[in-house]
Amino acid sequence: MSFDSSPVPALNLVPFVSVDDMMQTVLDIGVEEMLAGIAAYIEEDFARWEKFDKTPRLAAHSSVGVIELMPTSDGEEYAFKYVNGHPKNTKEGLQTVTAFGVLADVDSGYPVLISEMTILTALRTAAMSAVAARHLAPAAADTMAIIGNGAQSEFQALAFQGLLGINKLRLYDVDPVATEKCAANLAGRGFEIVRCASGQEAVEGAQIITTVTADKQYATILTDNMVGAGVHINAIGGDCPGKTELHKDILLRSDIFVEYPPQTRIEGEIQQLDADHPVIELWQVIVGQREGRSSARQVTLFDSVGFAIEDFSALRYLRDQLERTGRYENLDMIADPDEPRDLFGMILRAGAQR
Ligand SMILES: NC(=O)c1ccc[n+]([C@@H]2O[C@H](COP(=O)([O-])OP(=O)(O)OC[C@H]3O[C@@H](n4cnc5c(N)ncnc54)[C@H](O)[C@@H]3O)[C@@H](O)[C@H]2O)c1
Repeated sequence: MSFDSSPVPALNLVPFVSVDDMMQTVLDIGVEEMLAGIAAYIEEDFARWEKFDKTPRLAAHSSVGVIELMPTSDGEEYAFKYVNGHPKNTKEGLQTVTAFGVLADVDSGYPVLISEMTILTALRTAAMSAVAARHLAPAAADTMAIIGNGAQSEFQALAFQGLLGINKLRLYDVDPVATEKCAANLAGRGFEIVRCASGQEAVEGAQIITTVTADKQYATILTDNMVGAGVHINAIGGDCPGKTELHKDILLRSDIFVEYPPQTRIEGEIQQLDADHPVIELWQVIVGQREGRSSARQVTLFDSVGFAIEDFSALRYLRDQLERTGRYENLDMIADPDEPRDLFGMILRAGAQR
């Protein structure tokens, strides 16, 4: 199937990437190549940060979770993602995080792609983490602790392997079944994997610590004594008001790097700090305006919450693969009457044909 094969484009049709299409896309392209590709698109978009419309995401909280809308535009294309976060869900056989999103043409306002984004979010979050770590982690890092071995964890491991050469993993989860699942899924991919009985054991000898747990409350996954000099912390799971993973003392002795400060101050680890606590925006590091890691003993923290531009980049990447993979179907999404103002007449003509 070709992305644009019809001589007259059917204006009603919008390419739709289903979960099955996304899985086939990952298998066709290869997860490593996809992670590297999305990372490259994120870097490209972060390097033109100032071109984007930016806003903290719009969150609808309940006592058990959150539903969020994440819009952004570079003036030519527009994207938004719908995403939820419900830590209790796995106990009910549901995902903690599910998502879908749209890429649209600003000039016409027409959508150009609709996609599942549960898998795409895991890919883009991992790609984003690796992009940040390339600037922040110690150059000689070869070992990463992953605390929280749920849905995101394998993607994180593979991104750090592909983009930073991390081949040693130390896994810990309060649920050993999750650790077993993660280790089994990563078997045969060149990792040396150690299953750990505590967070403390997991961080031993790791130059990079990824925290990717899910809990709808202030948790303390890492205490100050667990973080040695020179470590890079990739903190993924603290991404909502009242939902953090790190003890405040760690923040006070780290150099903190963030995506979009107005959103991270609401949602990230830094919600525990004063509103004017200094942070460094990652895009400035990417374009060379600010320094990333500057010394061997520095503790660097990527306080990840997930920002709309990363989803924009991931959707752009996916759109650019559609012709190559053919993994989509066209959805009859946009009403397209012969005469644009004759929307009601279109229904009447459909009625006459019944
Ligand atoms: N920053 C981002 O861009 C981003 C993107 C996606 C997901 N997330 C967040 O990442 C987190 C993980 O997402 P997921 O999809 O992998 O969730 P998940 O529910 O599939 O996995 C979470 C894992 O954490 C474990 N866990 C919970 N408390 C723990 C503790 N105290 N110590 C060790 N392990 C613990 C659980 O047993 C579970 O296996 C969520 O909080 C989610 O909101 C952030």
